[in-house]
Amino acid sequence: MKSKGVLLISGSHRGRKTTTNSILDYLEKKLIRGDITVSRVQVPLHLHEGSFLSGIKDDLQAFDTLLLCFPLYFDTFPFPLIAALESLSEQSKNRLKGVKLFFILHCGLPEPTHCSGALAVCRRFSEERGCTYGGSAVIPDTGAIDGASVERNKRVRSILDAALDILQGSMEKDHETDITGKPSMHPFFFRVFGNPIMKHFARKNKADLFQKAYTQGFISGPR
Ligand SMILES: Cc1cc2nc3c(=O)[nH]c(=O)nc-3n(C[C@H](O)[C@H](O)[C@H](O)COP(=O)(O)O)c2cc1C
Repeated sequence: MKSKGVLLISGSHRGRKTTTNSILDYLEKKLIRGDITVSRVQVPLHLHEGSFLSGIKDDLQAFDTLLLCFPLYFDTFPFPLIAALESLSEQSKNRLKGVKLFFILHCGLPEPTHCSGALAVCRRFSEERGCTYGGSAVIPDTGAIDGASVERNKRVRSILDAALDILQGSMEKDHETDITGKPSMHPFFFRVFGNPIMKHFARKNKADLFQKAYTQGFISGPR
């Protein structure tokens, strides 16, 4: 049976110029070229603004596969995405049943293992909502993309091409695969170059990297 198509969900609420949208631009183009019906929505910062939830409920009837792409924020999902998924599962329990879910997780740090916790949540969400888990791709070290095209980024492109193969395979037959990408350089070099870069941005933003939350005065800690 031919799939009804893929709904792409951008899980970063930081506006248009995001890594998540760069990834989805690439996937959307390729899916359309492969003659697959595609639509795309972006999770808003405030759920009550705009028509995200009502729109997605209609989309759940029109599409049988959801591809959720999101960045790791503080080791987990961005908060507006958590809120959107919670509201969606409360309000559209039955519409989610049987829908195929595919996840693309990406993070700024070079070790893909930072995404393991969020990936476990993706699997659990699929199970608990009666969806079919179609697989996932984890892409580390995506901070530098920040809205730029990934067309010339061989490392990211090859992970996305592999993800598309799995997605298309899982749309035809019921099987799942998880793939994990590699960073652009060994994590050791991130620490060598990353620390001075962090210090530079901290100075620029007048942030004290060594200040502890409980010593800032406005939060009273335990005495
Ligand atoms: C508020 C915030 C928190 C972040 N937390 C993490 C983190 O815990 N681990 C990580 O590897 N990257 C973290 N990052 C980096 C992002 O995952 C990375 O820059 C990503 O490409 C941003 O995607 P976006 O442009 O689609 O929002 C964080 C970025 C921001 C802005």
